[in-house]
Amino acid sequence: MSAQTESEKKLAALEAVKYIRDGMTIGLGTGSTAFYAVGAIGDLVKQGMQIKAVPTSVQTKQLARSLHIPLVEINEVNEIDITIDGADEFTTNFELIKGGGGALLREKVVASLTKENITIADSSKHVQKLGKFKLPVEVIPFAMNYVISQLRGVGGEGVIRKKDNNIYMTDSKNYIIDVDFGLIGNPAKLANELDHITGIVEHGLFINRTNRIIMAEEKTIHQFQNHKPG
Ligand code: 5RP
Repeated sequence: MSAQTESEKKLAALEAVKYIRDGMTIGLGTGSTAFYAVGAIGDLVKQGMQIKAVPTSVQTKQLARSLHIPLVEINEVNEIDITIDGADEFTTNFELIKGGGGALLREKVVASLTKENITIADSSKHVQKLGKFKLPVEVIPFAMNYVISQLRGVGGEGVIRKKDNNIYMTDSKNYIIDVDFGLIGNPAKLANELDHITGIVEHGLFINRTNRIIMAEEKTIHQFQNHKPG
C-alpha cells in the first residue's frame, strides 16, 4: 500500500466522521479505511462525545473496545443513524463491491438498518464499471459446490477463499467464494440473480444502498451524494 493511498484513506475517513453528532448510534465498518474512521470516533469519545456503536465484524469490535467506544448489540437497536464503511470498488452510480475483508454479511445488515450510509474510499477504488475486483459471495458450507455451479450459470467463475491454507471462515461461520464475472454490465440485474441462488447467504454487491461516497484523491475530497437511495 503506497503512502499516498494510506493518506487518502485517512482523509476520507476523517471527513466522514465530521457528520457524527452527540447521541447518535453509529455503524462501524470493517477494513483498512474504516480503521481510520473507528480511530477518529475513538478520539471523539475520548473528548466526551456520547455515542454508541454497532460493529460490523469481530475485528472491528475488538478495535472499538480497545478505544473504549461504547458498543451496543445490533438486536438492541431499531435504527442506526450513520454507518461509515469502506468499499473494494465503487461507481458514482452508487454501486459498490464489498467483502474483500470478509464482513459483507454483517455490513449489509448494518447498512440496511442505517439512515445515512457513508462510503469512504481512496481514489483507487473508483471505477467506471465494477468487476475487476472479484465479487465476494458468502455461502453456507453445505451449499458450496452447488453454489459454485449455479454461479457458472450466471457467468461467474468462483474460487473458495483461503487463509493460511485453510478455507476462510466468516464471523457467521460461512465460506466466501470470490467470483470473477469480468466487468459487470448490469450490477442490479446480477444482484437480483444472486439473491435467488439457494445457499448464498449474501453477496458483496451493494446497489444504491449508500447515501454518500467520500473519496480522497491526493489532498482533495470528492463527495458524491445519492439523492435517491433505494
Ligand atoms: C470488508 C469490506 C471493506 O469495506 C472493503 O474490503 C474495503 O476494505 P479496505 O478499506 O481495507 O480497502 O467490505 O468486508
